[in-house]
Amino acid sequence: MTDASPTLAGAAAMFGADERWVAVERYITDSLLAPDASLEEALRASDAAGLPPISVSPNQGKLLHLLVRMLGGRRVLELGTLGAYSTIWIARAVPSGGRVITVEADARYAEVAQENIARAQLGDVVELRVADALEALTDMQANGEDPFDLVFIDADKQRIPAYFESALALSRPGSLIVVDNVVRGGRILDPDSEDPGVLGIRRFYELAGRESRVSATAIPTVGCKGYDGFAVLLVTA
Ligand code: SAH
Ligand code: DHB
Ligand code: MG
Repeated sequence: MTDASPTLAGAAAMFGADERWVAVERYITDSLLAPDASLEEALRASDAAGLPPISVSPNQGKLLHLLVRMLGGRRVLELGTLGAYSTIWIARAVPSGGRVITVEADARYAEVAQENIARAQLGDVVELRVADALEALTDMQANGEDPFDLVFIDADKQRIPAYFESALALSRPGSLIVVDNVVRGGRILDPDSEDPGVLGIRRFYELAGRESRVSATAIPTVGCKGYDGFAVLLVTA
């Protein structure tokens, strides 16, 4: 068993995470999540290849996994693969014959991701597309792609509004849309922010709040990634 803690420590340093809450998150993870060699190895290999330590935390990965299982999800779309840590959590949740499409713009990250996917023996489940997320979404809409059961939005934050609109177009009533990083250390409340990511997230809240086809919430999170949050939206019509 390899130890994923260097990556989690790297995240804690990057996000200026509070030690006590890192410990609480670790306590939850140690109590509830079985050690998993493929996931730990994916983090270790990503770290060794110099990828930034910005994967979802283990307990968030498990939440994605459980959401897919609760839905009985067979088709999942992920925007932003990085080293495929979240992808592996999700792909482990789809039944045999299921499909996970994950989109990554950075070819070098994608190479690391593909190796991690292969090592986890999920090459038959996961299709990794090296592309810009918005272009990939536009192509899927133009090609009449079947709806997804869950779309996980975790690429650049600036264009979350556009990703959300496309995710909705590629959904059906009963689909879930999950968006990572919707709190960003509370910077979403800064009225003078010119950070394109912050502006993208605020615009997303506006759109989602008045979109009659979704019922939505967002949960602030704390742990190795500092203070952030996950939005969960059920497509209702
Ligand atoms: N989902 C991953 C983490 C993703 S980090 C996990 O939890 O393990 C965000 C990723 O989005 C980075 O790898 C970054 O290269 C990618 N990205 C940024 N802009 C993008 C774009 N326009 N299209 C596709 N991917 C993008
Ligand atoms: C960043 C991206 C993420 O998806 C995340 O969860 C944390 C940070 C980033 O680009 O900095
Ligand atoms: Mg993220």
